[in-house]
Amino acid sequence: MDDIISLQVGLDARSYDIKIGNNLIANAGDLLGDIIAGRQAVIVCDSNVASLYLDALASSLARVTRRCDRIIVPAGETSKNMKVLADLLNDILDFGVDRGLVIVALGGGVIGDLVGFAAASLMRGVDFVQIPTSLLAQVDSSVGGKTGVNAPRGKNLIGAFYQPRAVLADTATLATLPPRELRAGYAEVAKYGLLGDSSFFAWLEDNGKAVLDLEPQALNHAIMTSCAAKARIVEADEREAKQRALLNLGHTFAHAFEVEANYDGRLLHGEAVAAGIGVAFALSVRMGLCKQGDLDRVKAHLKGQKLPGDNRELIAGNAAAERLIAHMQNDKKVLDGKMRFILVKGIGEAFVASDVPLEFVHETLEGLD
Ligand code: NAD
Ligand code: GLY
Repeated sequence: MDDIISLQVGLDARSYDIKIGNNLIANAGDLLGDIIAGRQAVIVCDSNVASLYLDALASSLARVTRRCDRIIVPAGETSKNMKVLADLLNDILDFGVDRGLVIVALGGGVIGDLVGFAAASLMRGVDFVQIPTSLLAQVDSSVGGKTGVNAPRGKNLIGAFYQPRAVLADTATLATLPPRELRAGYAEVAKYGLLGDSSFFAWLEDNGKAVLDLEPQALNHAIMTSCAAKARIVEADEREAKQRALLNLGHTFAHAFEVEANYDGRLLHGEAVAAGIGVAFALSVRMGLCKQGDLDRVKAHLKGQKLPGDNRELIAGNAAAERLIAHMQNDKKVLDGKMRFILVKGIGEAFVASDVPLEFVHETLEGLD
């Protein structure tokens, strides 16, 4: 095992460590020993990740647990629903578990969100551990305790804040992640620089290609900086009363683009976020809040990483601005009937705005390249 980077999310009695490193899955029994030794565990994994990493994880955990079972759910966003959740809870109960159970989520953000919510609900809450295997999950979804499933009326509408007991991000798993999924996860990495850390964004401008090429030093630095940024925000505002909303930079627009694309694989979540970030910068420029030069830098960087900057054809076909705005009004980020946008005064300077005149949003969407 190479060196392991360790960070803490400080939430008093619910604090936990994020460990980042190469080849952690094979050593998960030792690395998680203080949490799982002598306990019953169930690993939940998706069908793609199962064939790659489930055996290695199960044999490592079996060395320290009292008993270790496995459940595989179909890969993809469509597994994040109430039916799969109910089946999962029943399958776990069928193993004859008690409240000493630890559930281990092995996979991308879909598995992390689904399994985290299962852990929050089972017997009113059992321990769970995140072992994220996609870049998006390693830098974002495995940290911070947002868990849940989608409802017919929209994404992530049913869920709970429920923190894991530990996060193990094994960077070796990214070697098998499809390149398009890797780039989509990179959008969330860029997001941390753009919302609050201009020097990290400048570093990404120089090193973003090395991150996508999975060069170990660059990759570790990008994951560690992203997790540290998220940890500080979650510590300050776990339930998104204030600054946690900044993590939604680009997401209000992304949500509309994803609804428009019907979640049919044309647009991955991270691709929609990249496009949404470009539009959030464009709106900020239109409102006179941000320099055109900063928007140009953002678009150039995302394009260089083969992510959509704000290209209308790519992000939403020929969706009319009104239709996109209607989708945004259905988003769960709407508060007391008001749409909230994360706008920017420049790179690294995001803020929450709930008083954005709709004509600016309309003009920005109409004006996309
Ligand atoms: P995902 O879990 O669907 O994973 C993407 C694809 O990559 C899947 O096909 C998966 O099987 C595959 N995969 C994962 N790891 C792999 C590996 N190492 N090798 C090969 N294939 C691998 O999607 P995602 O992009 O990881 O996560 C998106 C989900 O995360 C969405 O549901 C989104 O709402 C959620 N999310 C949650 C939060 C949060 O804070 N909870 C934040 C951002 C996104
Ligand atoms: N991904 C947004 C959040 O965790 O708040």
